Amino acid sequence: MCGIVGYSGEKKALGILLSGLQSLEYRGYDSAGISLKKGKKIETIKTKGKVTDLITLIAESNIDTSATIGIGHTRWATHGAPSSTNAHPHYTERVSVVHNGIIENYRNLEKFLKEKNINRRTDTDTEIIALLLDLYLSEGFDFKNAFFKTVEMLKGSFAIAAISKDFDYMMLAKHESPLVIGLSNNETYIASDVSALIEYTHDFIFLEDGDIALIDKGNVTIWDKDKKETKRQPTQIDWSKEKAQKGGYKHFMLKEIAEEDEAVRNTIQSRIDEDGNVFLDEEISISKEFLKNLDRITIVACGTSFYAGLTAKPIIEKYTGIKVDVEIGSEFRYYNYLYSKNNLFIAISQSGETADTKEPLKMAKSKGIKTLSIVNVKESAIARLSDSCIYTLAGPEISVASTKAFTSQLAVLYMLAFYIAQLKGKDLKPQAKQLLKIPSLIKQTFDKTQDKTKELADKYYNYQDFLYLGRGICYPLALEGALKLKEISYIHAEGYPAGEMKHGPIALIDENTPTVVVAHPEEPLYSKSLSNCEEIKSRHGKIILVSNKQSDIVDDFIEVPKVDYDFAPFVYIIPLQLFAYYVALFRGNDIDQPRNLAKSVTVE
Ligand code: M6R
Repeated sequence: MCGIVGYSGEKKALGILLSGLQSLEYRGYDSAGISLKKGKKIETIKTKGKVTDLITLIAESNIDTSATIGIGHTRWATHGAPSSTNAHPHYTERVSVVHNGIIENYRNLEKFLKEKNINRRTDTDTEIIALLLDLYLSEGFDFKNAFFKTVEMLKGSFAIAAISKDFDYMMLAKHESPLVIGLSNNETYIASDVSALIEYTHDFIFLEDGDIALIDKGNVTIWDKDKKETKRQPTQIDWSKEKAQKGGYKHFMLKEIAEEDEAVRNTIQSRIDEDGNVFLDEEISISKEFLKNLDRITIVACGTSFYAGLTAKPIIEKYTGIKVDVEIGSEFRYYNYLYSKNNLFIAISQSGETADTKEPLKMAKSKGIKTLSIVNVKESAIARLSDSCIYTLAGPEISVASTKAFTSQLAVLYMLAFYIAQLKGKDLKPQAKQLLKIPSLIKQTFDKTQDKTKELADKYYNYQDFLYLGRGICYPLALEGALKLKEISYIHAEGYPAGEMKHGPIALIDENTPTVVVAHPEEPLYSKSLSNCEEIKSRHGKIILVSNKQSDIVDDFIEVPKVDYDFAPFVYIIPLQLFAYYVALFRGNDIDQPRNLAKSVTVE
């Protein structure tokens, strides 16, 4: 849940560490710190707050900025409240350490250290790593062996980077938390993900679980989980620096909404030909015979990814005739799910690191269930754990509130439905061709609704409660619209199936609780949604209608382009995301990094 970065080379490390930390702030932003090593001295500066606070502190300090080796960290607190003391790096006289993850057995290790009169000074689990390293160095081990001995004792999830005052190399370890190595001439970069390093290199090694690595300028040595020296093939990532930055927009969120047409286009373009044939053979290694005979699909995900699954459920069922269950990861992992005979398990995750999605995936695998994942971040844990992975090609999603991941995930789910139906001998070429037209419809929707959503956000941003209603395929969109609003505007918002309103939530309606009604003009759902609007009006509630068909019952109307019912989610979600964005903007909130949230939730 934190971001780590490191550099070993011939350039000054400080600027590289700070710009890397700024790119990684979406992973955590309650404290930040760096350690720089020069000669036999390590200097550390850390603080509660954001990377900008750290930069101010560094500017006021007299730290030696000529160091060419260093590590940095941006934190999202798990063990120990956000504070300067609990901020990383954690250090002793001999070492300095940054860590992402949780050391589950830190209490036992603390006991072990206490018996040797070694005590923690912070409330963090991470400090234990520094203390163990220091202990073994004091016993005469060299840094590499001290690191191996320390890592051997750790249980839990970790990506670790450590430096020692007496050795000029850096040690890394990875287990269930991401860690990438960026390669270049005479220098090596490390980070939690590639977005922090893309301005320096496009060649990356993705460490695997159990790997330990030693980096020394341009030299990288890796040992696998059996401590055998191993070679890992570098992967080329062609994301541009520009892609990983705001590209002229005020916030990543707005940039990412504006990129949704491109994200969906990239996701479908190479997989559907102009005749409407869907090509997923290369990505899905699960046998076609098995896919043809599926009797159930179980989708597991969290948050927005869960809503993408819910949205696609009726589409998959309609076109493949296969029953689909959509389950929340954090519940599923403690639930004795009854798989059917020919069951496919699908994990959906933007980050590919969400613990509550990863664990059910592991459970499904351990039961011999075939697994497929839909993931955005290449080589992430969920992508690598599953039997097959179809990547959404949305590019980096930096804003904590997920937007382009949602529409790209939908695109993959639709393609998958068409692909399976195709295997079963159905002709869904017309539908697949229709999907090819969706990116330009998304673009039209963005252009058509941006000003209107901004105008309405200005009108409504002071309200404290919102209701979002939808029917059929628009119901999960109501859930996602409400999630977006609460995440970034901190306004209480509830998504509900419109027909269920009279069974309870109608009690909330008064002039202070506006309702956003998401209604495709397809009958009879549209008329029924309008009846619900009448019920709201007669209780003095204000209504914003998102539709292609106007109604004189409502107070405000956001008109979206015409789209067939089955494809409506790609279009109707855009104004809901924009509305949440502008409401948060008018409220003056930190849109890309909303309070209490982290982009990638790698802990339970
Ligand atoms: O990376 P994932 O798709 O697995 O993340 C799942 C949720 O944590 C995520 O969608 C979260 O709900 C977002 N903040 C929603 O905007």
